Amino acid sequence: MSILVTGGAGYIGSHTVVQLLEAGELVVVVDNLSNSHQEVFNRIRTITSGELVFVEGDLRDAQLLDNIFKSYDIDSVIHFAGYKAVGESVSKPLMYYQNNILSTLTLLEVMQKHDCNKLVFSSSATVYGDPETVPITEQSPLSATNPYGQTKLMIENILKDMASADANWRIAVLRYFNPVGAHSSGLIGEDPNGIPNNLMPFVAKVAVGQLPQVNVFGDDYDTPDGTGVRDYIHVVDLAAGHLAALNKLKQQSGWQAYNLGTGKGYSVLDVINSFADISEREIPYQIAPRRAGDIATCYASVDYSKQALNWQAKADIKQIIKDHWNWQQQNPNGYKDAN
Ligand code: NAD
Ligand code: UFG
Repeated sequence: MSILVTGGAGYIGSHTVVQLLEAGELVVVVDNLSNSHQEVFNRIRTITSGELVFVEGDLRDAQLLDNIFKSYDIDSVIHFAGYKAVGESVSKPLMYYQNNILSTLTLLEVMQKHDCNKLVFSSSATVYGDPETVPITEQSPLSATNPYGQTKLMIENILKDMASADANWRIAVLRYFNPVGAHSSGLIGEDPNGIPNNLMPFVAKVAVGQLPQVNVFGDDYDTPDGTGVRDYIHVVDLAAGHLAALNKLKQQSGWQAYNLGTGKGYSVLDVINSFADISEREIPYQIAPRRAGDIATCYASVDYSKQALNWQAKADIKQIIKDHWNWQQQNPNGYKDAN
């Protein structure tokens, strides 16, 4: 029996594939490489052995998916594939609804056709909008402030409706906080296209000398140092959360959402200062205006995931930055260096 990983060539998917293979699972990845590089599979195979099949293709291609389900005995699906850039989703909403929603609907139809009912879905803390209180529990109110967030909320609701209509579905919705870091080997990590939107990859590029300085988006938030506070979770811990969720689905049917975070918040300045310490590089920064749509503080309550999934994040911010920096130094141009 195999596990189908959609978007398995991507940042979080690739780290999860490594752990699935290490756990002895047979893995089939489907990815159209729209935001990833085939080199990742050479790296994965350097880290670990095991049976890994890569099918290059688009999730919206029902025939392709049908063939995958016919060719491999797929027991469960981890669904990472989708577009994820908040700003781009505001300027190109149709592209986001088209890809994220249609991919998921196509996947669900083919799963249904083949009686495959176990699904782990990549949701995001963005579904909590601007939280009234922190830490954020799974019961906190949900809202979306941009088309990307809308797609996550819509898909969560579609999955909930599926589970209500058919008690055979077993669905784990994983709400990630801020995934960062890289595999300790430095062989796989996040490889954003162009100038990074997110803080940690941006800081890493300043540390390595590819960008001149960090723009700190606002220092007048209601936080200890005035800069935004987030819950940064090591991608390896996040990946482990997917294996814990798959395990849970063996015992429990229905729809359930879980926060995957650390429960701790760090400010933008905390991240810059720790990165400078660990990398022993100067990281120039300037205070810039707030970024539209940003919130002051976001961190998870992880009590429920700890108890229900028997999972918890282990890496602290220093370990996260150490691994992120190791990846950045070894691959200053990401996977492109491999060509
Ligand atoms: P990523 O872009 O690195 O990986 C996504 C993968 O999906 C890419 O390899 C891309 O080529 C593939 N893909 C996209 N559309 C596809 C399609 N139609 N058919 C086949 N493949 C397709 O992103 P990631 O950071 O690994 O994120 C994985 C998931 O987690 C996404 O759904 C994202 O929205 C969600 N998420 C990410 C973050 C984050 O900060 N990285 C936070 C919360 C949630
Ligand atoms: N920030 C800067 N300068 C930068 C980039 C970011 O000051 O160049 C600040 C932001 O204002 C924020 C913090 O750093 O206070 C973190 O910003 P990120 O862009 O790294 O992350 P976000 O919390 O804005 O969003 C991320 C993902 C979303 C996801 C969300 C919750 O980009 O897709 O985490 O999981 F929904």
